[in-house]
Amino acid sequence: MATFDDADFGVETPTQPVQSSQPNAAGEHSANPAHAGALAIPMSPSSFSHDAIEVPATRSPHADASKYMHNLSLSPSMRDRRASRNSFGTSLPIPRSKRQSRLSSVHHIDRDAIAGSGAVPIRATREILAAQIQDISADKAKKAKNMAFVFDIDGVLVHGDRLIPEGKRALEILNGDNELGIKIPHIFLTNGSGKPELARTQQLAKILQNPVNTEQFIQSHTPMRALAEYYGTVLVVGGEGYRCREVAEQYGFRDIVVPNDIVAWDTTIAPYRVFTDEERASSRPRDFSQVNIEAILVFSDSRDYATDMQIIIDLLRSEDGRLGTIAADPVSQRIPIYFSQGDMLCPTEHPIPRMSQGTFRIGLEAMYKALTGVDLERVVYGKPEMATYKYADEVIASWMEQLHGEERIPENIYMVGDNPASDIIGGNMYGWNTCLVRTGVFQGGENDESNPANFGVFPNVLEAVKTACRKELGESFGFEWDDRINPVLHGSKQVASAIE
Ligand code: G3P
Ligand code: MG
Repeated sequence: MATFDDADFGVETPTQPVQSSQPNAAGEHSANPAHAGALAIPMSPSSFSHDAIEVPATRSPHADASKYMHNLSLSPSMRDRRASRNSFGTSLPIPRSKRQSRLSSVHHIDRDAIAGSGAVPIRATREILAAQIQDISADKAKKAKNMAFVFDIDGVLVHGDRLIPEGKRALEILNGDNELGIKIPHIFLTNGSGKPELARTQQLAKILQNPVNTEQFIQSHTPMRALAEYYGTVLVVGGEGYRCREVAEQYGFRDIVVPNDIVAWDTTIAPYRVFTDEERASSRPRDFSQVNIEAILVFSDSRDYATDMQIIIDLLRSEDGRLGTIAADPVSQRIPIYFSQGDMLCPTEHPIPRMSQGTFRIGLEAMYKALTGVDLERVVYGKPEMATYKYADEVIASWMEQLHGEERIPENIYMVGDNPASDIIGGNMYGWNTCLVRTGVFQGGENDESNPANFGVFPNVLEAVKTACRKELGESFGFEWDDRINPVLHGSKQVASAIE
C-alpha cells in the first residue's frame, strides 16, 4: 500500500549539514554531519549559556505520523500519481440516474424569469426572436448545444460569499446574453458542502445574480445520497448546527445520528466538550449502547475536531459500530467511513488557506493506525474522483434535456477550475477541456507543472468562457443579445436593423 513520503508534505531533506548547537572547546558551533536534519534550538551563539547541557535526542525529529499515512498525497500529480485518493478496488456508489435523485421541486428558470405581469410579453417576444435567430443560424445553434461548461465555485465564481465579478458576466452570457440568445449548458461542480442543495443554490443565485438551479448543481456530498440504499443507521459528521442532518434526511437516509446526539447521551465521551443546554435541547439522544451505527459519513468540515475525532475513532474501533465496545479484531468488525471530499486546504477570508476535510481525515488515519496498528480503509468522494465526474455526466445530460429537450452529453465539455490538484487533474483524466483560472488556489506561472490545464490558463472565468465559445462558435461570436435584431435581415446577412 502506498504511503506518504516527505515530498508529499513539501519536506526537503537537507543536503548541507546543519550547525550543531553543541559548541566545541573554543565555544564555536561546528558542522556535525551526525546531527544533519536536527531541529535547531533557537538560541544565538552569543547568548549561549555554558550552564546548560544539550542532550542529543535519541530519535528522529520527524513526526511519528509519517508512518501512519495512507495512500494519499497533498498534491496528486498527473505525472506520477493516479488521480484518486482511494485504494484500488474501492467502489463509490452514485445515484443510478439524475432522474432518481431529484432533490426538491425547484423553480424553472424560464417560468421564474417570466413571472409577474408586464414581464411576460417582453420575455415571450425575446424568446420568439431568439428562436428565429437560432433557426436561421442553425449550424451555430447546434454547436452551442454541443458544448457545456462545468464550473468550480470557490475561487472561480465566488470567494466565500463574495462575488468574483467576471463570474456574473460569464453566466449572463451562458444564460442567453449572446448573439443567438441561446442558453449554453453549464453545471456547477463544487467540493463545497454543508447545507442542502436548495439552500446553497439560492444563496449562490443571490451572490451571482444569475439563476442557479439544483438540477445543475453538484456539491461534494450530492452523489453520496446513493449510500442511503446501503446503510440504515449512519453517523453524519460536519457542518454548522444540524444542517448536515437535514441534508441526510433529504437524501433519504432512514436513521441519522449526529455527534451531538451521542454527547447528549453520554457527555463523558467528549471530555473537552462544553455542551450547552441549547445543544442538549436540540439533540436526539438515545441509548447508543444498544444501537449499531452502520457507517460514518463525513459530509462537511468538522466544527469540533476533538469531539468528532473521538467519536469517530470510538466507532471505528468498536464491534460493528456499537459504542462502548472495542473490537478484538480491528478490521473484520469495523464499520465503513466515507468522506465527501479530500481537499487539504481551502482558501477563505483568512490570508493563509485553512485546513479542510483532507487534513481532518489524515489526522484520523494517523490516530487510527497508532491505536490499532492497521491502515484505515476509507472512501473519499468529490473532485478529482471518477465517481463524481461520472455523476456530473448524468447531471449534464439531464440539464441538457431541461434546456434543449435533448438528454445527452455534449461533445465539448469545458471544466473551469482554480485548483490543479482537484478540478484540473479530474477534468484531464475525464477527457474534458480544462481551463485553469488565476482567481483562486492557483497562483503559479504559465501553467501548473504537475497538473497542467489542457485548454489553458486564464486570468478569470470570463476569459475562459469567451475563449472556449470563440473556439466552438467562431472568433466573431457576439457576447451580447440585441433585442432590436431583425431575423429576416440577419438571415440574409444584411446589417441588422431595429424593429420599430
Ligand atoms: O475545499 C472546499 C471547497 O470550498 C472547495 O470548493 O468550489 O473550489 O470545489 P470548490
Ligand atoms: Mg475552487
